Amino acid sequence: MKILVVGGGGREHAVIKKLRENPDVSEIYALPGNGGIARDAVCVPEIKATDIDGVVKFAVENKIEYAVVTPDDPLVLGAVDALTAHGVPCFGPSKAAAQIEGSKVFAKDLMKKYGIPTAEYKTFDNEKDALSYLESAPYPTVVKADGLALGKGVIIAQNKEEARAAVIGIMRDKKFGASGDRIVIEEFLTGPEVSVLSFTDGKTLIPMVSSMDHKRAKDNDEGLNTGGMGCIAPNPFYTPEIARECVRKIFIPTVAALNSEGRTFKGCLYFGLMITPKGPRVIEYNCRFGDPETQVVLPLLKTDLLTVMRAVTDERLSEIKVEFEKKCSACVIMASAGYPEKYEKGFEISIPEDIEKDVFVAGAAQKDGKLVTSGGRVLGVCAKGETLREALTKAYENVSRISFENAYFRRDIGKKALGAKEE
Ligand code: AMP
Ligand code: GLY
Repeated sequence: MKILVVGGGGREHAVIKKLRENPDVSEIYALPGNGGIARDAVCVPEIKATDIDGVVKFAVENKIEYAVVTPDDPLVLGAVDALTAHGVPCFGPSKAAAQIEGSKVFAKDLMKKYGIPTAEYKTFDNEKDALSYLESAPYPTVVKADGLALGKGVIIAQNKEEARAAVIGIMRDKKFGASGDRIVIEEFLTGPEVSVLSFTDGKTLIPMVSSMDHKRAKDNDEGLNTGGMGCIAPNPFYTPEIARECVRKIFIPTVAALNSEGRTFKGCLYFGLMITPKGPRVIEYNCRFGDPETQVVLPLLKTDLLTVMRAVTDERLSEIKVEFEKKCSACVIMASAGYPEKYEKGFEISIPEDIEKDVFVAGAAQKDGKLVTSGGRVLGVCAKGETLREALTKAYENVSRISFENAYFRRDIGKKALGAKEE
């Protein structure tokens, strides 16, 4: 079977390695893929994930039998609708359903309408009203650009001045382009964060193992926000009791709400949750697998991934059993020093062969037959273990065996989770 994966980061590498485990998979193409993915799939660097016409043309010409679309932007642009219309069955939500990530105003209004617990909020489509609201808003307050903003559209403002600067940056200076035509200003919540990815075909929802991302660049959650510096699974703050509450009050109502709005969601629905003193609240939805959550969650999946994905597409998810190993999993991101700001690239990467299976490549290119750094986040270095401590020890051992110039990684991935376990 010929498979196409749209995207080219560590998450896509994890998806591709998992799909490869199915013996019926003959070829996997990645658009655009990357230098590391090229070891596991045929990469087509000329076709960007957001080039929907190019993706469709490639899929049709190459007789792709199944496509998996994982990044947010092609999903929000309607890649799945376009591929499906050309007879290519796909894993991923339609453009209408992807709005749950594509517009924060849409997501917040959906939660309000259907009573799904989230932070209190107001939405604004003009700067004047937003600035006038800030005069009497409670602080800290959270300012969010409506549309996709490369994960940078959320500003936690400690006081009125910071909030004003955020609003002006987003709405007047258009720091995130049209994504800032509207904004959400919401209540600041506190508590541990949990990511839960789920498979859903619009009728059945199967949560995957929970996880914890580490978004800040430096140890002890200091420094700038990044695309994720590491991850662990399962998340110890997500107790069985909280999980039951989330299924009942958040997961099932979200699937039902999208159905009621005529936007049935099929694919991976991601719940970004905060476990507040008042109970779990939705911080954000994503219409796709998380990065780097996927790099810790998929290695624990026992059921064949392609079988699950096809069951989602065919709306047969209730007919299959999706099982995860009862182990723990950890991922440490090796980044280029300076990320998420300025960094150098082009350094040769050496990965011992025996640990290649545990390494998902995010930002690397092939140059003269060698793997070289080409992005801020370079590698997701992972491991599994019977305990979280064992998984972390092994992941850090793997990190110590990989080298490239200017490599930077956090040394405290999983520390908070270990603390929770030992409390
Ligand atoms: P998002 O891009 O929506 O995931 O937001 C990025 C990060 O901002 C989240 O992971 C949280 O750490 C933080 N955040 C977002 N919304 C809130 C909120 N209402 N209260 C506190 N922190 C928040
Ligand atoms: N790890 C957060 C995200 O994928 O958006």
